[in-house]
Amino acid sequence: MQKPQEIVLAEPRGFCAGVDRAIEIVERALQKFGRPIYVRHEIVHNTYVVNDLKAKGAIFIEDLAEVPPGATLIFSAHGVSRAVQDEAKARGFTIFDATCPLVTKVHVEVAKLAREGYEFIMIGHKGHPEVEGTMGQLDSGIHLVEDVADVARVQPAQTEKLAVVTQTTLSVDDAAEITTAVRARFPNIREPKQQDICYATQNRQDAVKLLSPQVDLVIVVGSPTSSNSNRLRELAERMGTPAYMVDSAEELRHEWFDGIARVGLTAGASAPEVLVQAVIARIKELGAVSVRKMAGIEETLKFPLPKGLKLHAAAGE
Ligand code: F3S
Repeated sequence: MQKPQEIVLAEPRGFCAGVDRAIEIVERALQKFGRPIYVRHEIVHNTYVVNDLKAKGAIFIEDLAEVPPGATLIFSAHGVSRAVQDEAKARGFTIFDATCPLVTKVHVEVAKLAREGYEFIMIGHKGHPEVEGTMGQLDSGIHLVEDVADVARVQPAQTEKLAVVTQTTLSVDDAAEITTAVRARFPNIREPKQQDICYATQNRQDAVKLLSPQVDLVIVVGSPTSSNSNRLRELAERMGTPAYMVDSAEELRHEWFDGIARVGLTAGASAPEVLVQAVIARIKELGAVSVRKMAGIEETLKFPLPKGLKLHAAAGE
């Protein structure tokens, strides 16, 4: 039986600027205000991150009724609807918003165009919290399409003023195909100047496109709930390379590596590097002797934190 010889690391992989910021918001809130800090929904879709923050004193809830009066509440990186925002305000919580600024950008665009009388086609996955948050920026007039078949079925009230928005973590190729169908049905539809799919999703998918043909197997580190991690695994498979997604090194199965010489490794935008290193260590135990980093884009984007989370009062807050 052949053992894996080489691990090839995708570049970039793992944490994006929005995830970095969201986790830092929870950690700073814990340091500044003490435990417990309430977080609406998993701050990011990663089991390790959520368990780590739980151990530090974060309490994850779905329903705001579970949060006691006077508590500090953080909205997850996926964003929330206006109804959730309004309810949180009405209940008087101290709120910090960890919504990724690239999701907020979509919310702002939807609100602005709605004021101008636009209706929307949203491309996304039903039930994903980001989709609920973005669709929940309006009471009505935003229609979800999940695939090309949905595009034929959607019934906006008018087609004069119609705009398209997308979830930020979709498959770039699927979104392009669905957008083509949307354009064919609604030729006047307004499209965002810059696509809503974020730079991190695009870069991680581009890296997997380069990685997949160079390896015999792709391992994606990510949790089952993570949209962008799932898309990375699907993409590798579409490229013709068998691919598995694991939440931790313990989920790796030795039979996956039978007859495999080169293993490609990547991680979704919510998966920490510590898990990638644990996976590398495990694959080395199975025989891999070398680790090679692919050349790739270096990401330097960093988002500012919300006001009120500086750790030293002397710093002016
Ligand atoms: Fe934001 Fe994209 Fe990350 S929307 S949270 S930068 S995956």
